[in-house]
Amino acid sequence: MDGNGRWARRRHLPRVAGHRAGVRAIRPVMEACDRAGVHILTLYAFSTENWSRPRHEVAALMQLFGETIDSEVDELDREGVQIRVLGERERLSDRLRDKVASAEERTSRNTRAVLNVAINYGGRGEIVAAVRELASRGMDLTQLDESMLSRALYTAGLPDPDLIIRTAGEMRISNFLLWQAAYAELFVTETLWPEFGETALTEALRSFSSRERKFGTVPEAVPQPLVDALHASRAG
Ligand code: FPP
Repeated sequence: MDGNGRWARRRHLPRVAGHRAGVRAIRPVMEACDRAGVHILTLYAFSTENWSRPRHEVAALMQLFGETIDSEVDELDREGVQIRVLGERERLSDRLRDKVASAEERTSRNTRAVLNVAINYGGRGEIVAAVRELASRGMDLTQLDESMLSRALYTAGLPDPDLIIRTAGEMRISNFLLWQAAYAELFVTETLWPEFGETALTEALRSFSSRERKFGTVPEAVPQPLVDALHASRAG
């Protein structure tokens, strides 16, 4: 959800006003996802690197996370949305950690949609935490395979993302879902997150649906002789 700060600066508002506008942008996007048949949405709200922002901004963001959980959980639960928070929780305040745990517990049996919110999340840290977790369970790590690791990530049980949208024009992954994004399609838009709505989402989905997804393989449409020639030239 990049671009909240720029959105605020353009209006001569404090950055925190941009984050508040960022929160307001979430519901219309969720509703548009629902209409479009997208039932799993992951929002990157706070990265492990974001702690280095000015102290007052970090505090305001933490406050906003708590307030947003408080104000939205009833409605999300009524709508059948399961809330999951991805990230390392130890560094969150006890209060926020409790709110997160209770929102997750309360919505855990909902099946209409999943809303993942990444807070204090970093893709590298997630992989390290997963390996540590497996080691602490006494697993023989020489036997580790991809599916075991996937099942130990914060996203255990969820499919990999099909599409990653980055707002505000940055052409970077920024430590987001590094493992899960292996074959995700990327869409970068100049639109700032507070202005990202149904129109921008539709543009992203349209672009996604025009992509030919290969998952690392050669597409079937390519004639076999061409595939053989390609392999032969690579081997040579
Ligand atoms: C990045 O924009 C945005 C953030 C670091 C915070 C995003 C968080 C929210 C919108 C709150 C969401 C709350 C919940 C509970 C889901 P930036 O500040 O880096 O913008 P800039 O690059 O324009 O400066």
